Amino acid sequence: MIRYSANITIMMTAARKAARSILRDFGELEKLQVSVKGQNDFVTMADIKAQQIIHYELSRSRTDHGFLMEEGKIKNNINENEYTWIIDPIDGTLNFMNGIPYFAISIALNCKDKIIAGVVYDPVHNDFYWAEEGIGAYINNQRLRVKNKKTLDKSIIALGIPFLGRGDHQQHIKIQQEVMSKVAGLRRFGAASLDLAFVAAGRVDGFWEFGLSPWDVAAGIILVKEAGGLAIGIDNKENPLLTGNIVAGNVNIVQELQKILNS
Ligand code: IPD
Ligand code: CA
Repeated sequence: MIRYSANITIMMTAARKAARSILRDFGELEKLQVSVKGQNDFVTMADIKAQQIIHYELSRSRTDHGFLMEEGKIKNNINENEYTWIIDPIDGTLNFMNGIPYFAISIALNCKDKIIAGVVYDPVHNDFYWAEEGIGAYINNQRLRVKNKKTLDKSIIALGIPFLGRGDHQQHIKIQQEVMSKVAGLRRFGAASLDLAFVAAGRVDGFWEFGLSPWDVAAGIILVKEAGGLAIGIDNKENPLLTGNIVAGNVNIVQELQKILNS
């Protein structure tokens, strides 16, 4: 029987409460015949409501922690406080607003430039991915391990694809062309935190994306690490939490991907 630490318990409670609001809105979206503008406002409100719930729950349990959150203005510098919560209330917003059931709540706890705990909650499937430094990575009560594939040729790799107004499209096309010639399959799911949780769970063998934000990757980084993998920068020196460029998987897969991403 797994005993959750106080931090994990607090994070889970906040995520579960936010999930109730998110799932209500997800159900409403399917029924609503709204204009594109109206739909955007509705989704923005869903994000903000969920974030308010998480913020309220976490700040009443831990009064001295900073916050770095996707929505709104509360964006403490990661090292402004000893501890900082890094939050994405709905990661995969585009999926959410189109009725695609692949989105998650992501909450991480940072202490002195290091993520020490993280949860990624997929509310549609009631899957709780969580990890804590030195304790391991889990889905609900089950331990997670990254897959141990040695080479890319049998691997399934998730990725992020740049879109309108974001990222270097030409560079991406060159990289994707190179990777797709070497792997068994590529997948673009659309929520980076959950993509990283899938790496931790061994559902996919690797993941890469450029230009993400700290709240997209923070919880996923500790999930992959505690599942025995690497979630690092495109070159070994950069910190993906700060640059937003990340590659993840077991050490073999990460090295293979890094060779292509750096060339
Ligand atoms: C997005 C998702 C997506 C990634 C984008 C992110 P959001 O987060 O993680 O997979 O490709 O770059 O912005 O906007 O849905 O919270
Ligand atoms: Ca996000």
